[in-house]
Amino acid sequence: MTRHLDPDETGLKRAAEMLRRGGLVSFPTETVYGLGGDATDDAAVARIFEAKGRPSFNPLIVHLPDAEAVEAYCVMDDTAQRLASTFWPGAMTLVLPIRPYAGISKLVTAGLDTLAVRVPDHPLAQALLRETALPIAAPSANPSGRVSPTTASHVLAGLAGRIEAVLDGGPCGVGVESTIIDCTGVTPALLRAGGLPAEAIEDCLGKPLAPPPPKSATAPSAPGQLASHYAPKGVVRLDATETEPGETYLGFGPLGADMNLSRSGDLVEAAANLFDCLHQLDAMGAERIAVAPIPDHGLGRAINDRLRRAAAPRG
Ligand code: TXA
Ligand code: MG
Repeated sequence: MTRHLDPDETGLKRAAEMLRRGGLVSFPTETVYGLGGDATDDAAVARIFEAKGRPSFNPLIVHLPDAEAVEAYCVMDDTAQRLASTFWPGAMTLVLPIRPYAGISKLVTAGLDTLAVRVPDHPLAQALLRETALPIAAPSANPSGRVSPTTASHVLAGLAGRIEAVLDGGPCGVGVESTIIDCTGVTPALLRAGGLPAEAIEDCLGKPLAPPPPKSATAPSAPGQLASHYAPKGVVRLDATETEPGETYLGFGPLGADMNLSRSGDLVEAAANLFDCLHQLDAMGAERIAVAPIPDHGLGRAINDRLRRAAAPRG
């Protein structure tokens, strides 16, 4: 059952406690309601994708209380600093180089070496971030393919029974998602138009933003759209029931394998392990990777989508 929490001290404490225990809590931001989970907890992040019914693992935005907290996880150059001091807290997300060993689940970044971060300007979001002292990963709190929620009842209409609670802060002021700026290149690029007008950002920078790359994060649901998605160095073969000579076997379920996504055949656990396994296979120097069949339902669809991309011919 999904609890409806009032925006008072009790509600806030409950929400924070649920998040600290790996639960999922929807909370208001000034843009839209987020579906929050502990960004350092692989299983919590896997459950976010499961609750949304996402057919693929798009990287998620991590929410933090201020720019100082962001610096613990990301590298901020002068441009990022200027944007942060001008527009945070607010409806702007920055994509920044992630610090190695930052402790953020690889499922949050989809294995990328960048992290999308935002400092929301909503008193409840701020209070929750400070109360938990956790980086909170939160996509919009809607089932995949549906519109973003701007009230607690929108959230419940889509996700009741799938998350622990919704913290009700009334309607969101901005009502559209944050503007996403990629700060990892020479010129900052607009990845998604949103609640903060791009013109305001260009005024602050004193120069135009680069346009979104043709294969961009604005349409990440189409296969292969997010060009920078992480792929292992080795060649990947899917639906392998046994290995050929020279292959490293990535298993699923109770079978003998070099590495296993989930010995018990649990899709949530498999999702939580996926990117970490791919990184470990790289670290092992695996040149040919055979992957066991993964059931194509629930989180299995997202796992298979990701594996198909990993197995696709490289450009
Ligand atoms: O206003 C918002 O941004 C809301 C609130 C809850 O903060 N969140 C939100 O999250 O809209 P979501 O998951 O629905 O959209 C996040 C977008 C996706 O298009 C994703 O591809 C992009 O951010 N993104 C996340 N990390 C990225 C990265 N490292 N590089 C490029 N794009 C990234
Ligand atoms: Mg969304």
